[in-house]
Amino acid sequence: MSFSWKKVFSKKNKQTEISPDSVPKHIAIIMDGNGRWAAQRGLPRTAGHHAGMVALRRTIRAADEFGIKVLTVYAFSTENWKRPVAEVDFLMRLPSEFLRTDLPELIAKNVKVIMSGSRTGLPRHTIKAVDEAISKTANNTGMILNFALNYGSRAEIVKAVREISQAVAAGSLQVNEINEKIVADHLYTAGLPDPDLLIRPSGEIRLSNFLLWQLAYAELCFVEVYWPDFKREHLLAAIEAFSQRDRRFGTIKL
Ligand code: IPE
Ligand code: IPE
Ligand code: MG
Repeated sequence: MSFSWKKVFSKKNKQTEISPDSVPKHIAIIMDGNGRWAAQRGLPRTAGHHAGMVALRRTIRAADEFGIKVLTVYAFSTENWKRPVAEVDFLMRLPSEFLRTDLPELIAKNVKVIMSGSRTGLPRHTIKAVDEAISKTANNTGMILNFALNYGSRAEIVKAVREISQAVAAGSLQVNEINEKIVADHLYTAGLPDPDLLIRPSGEIRLSNFLLWQLAYAELCFVEVYWPDFKREHLLAAIEAFSQRDRRFGTIKL
């Protein structure tokens, strides 16, 4: 059964109704604030990461319910290696923990799992868990769940520049043939539409090296809750805010 936007937004106190046309196709989320959520409760940071995993489960369910085509979640940045070893180790175990419990549901929901990021440096057990999810969902045709894992936008752009330069050096590409499509095709996100909406919970108002190229025209939504407290209603509110934005892409309406 497909989700009815009209039903949700025709509550008395809401003037707006969302037309399916103004629902973002691709939502990217910076899952931030786990540590502060835990500190607020006198818990170790790892408890925050665990609660963040529960929030991810809720958010995937909600995004799927709302008919979102692509959900990209920032799980671990190339800069997060700078954290204490014990925290990094814990974070690297989360993909296998999450997928052990949630992969059957993702498969049942026809979700296709992919990853954006560098495999280099990831522990073998992390790669194994992610690869299993990728291969078991490879033929699924529903929502794409893109894990940004060991992801850094600048590293991604450097990778693209290197690959394109190699093609030029090998003579298979001319310099004047390089265009935006070719650059995009060498990013981890090749083949995906650019995110329409970026959501960052936790109160921080920055991109932290996330999808710098791909977010060129995204609408930005900063939410004042820590990621473990992020719920269906926050996703709904962000989509509602998105539907009210006037996206001009540099042009004007005549
Ligand atoms: C996000 O929460 C999780 C990762 C970056 C892996 P944080 O761990 O950054 O939590 P805060 O920002 O310190 O509260
Ligand atoms: C961004 O959050 C990375 C992830 C959520 C995975 P950070 O907590 O690492 O970002 P900064 O350090 O506050 O910019
Ligand atoms: Mg943080």
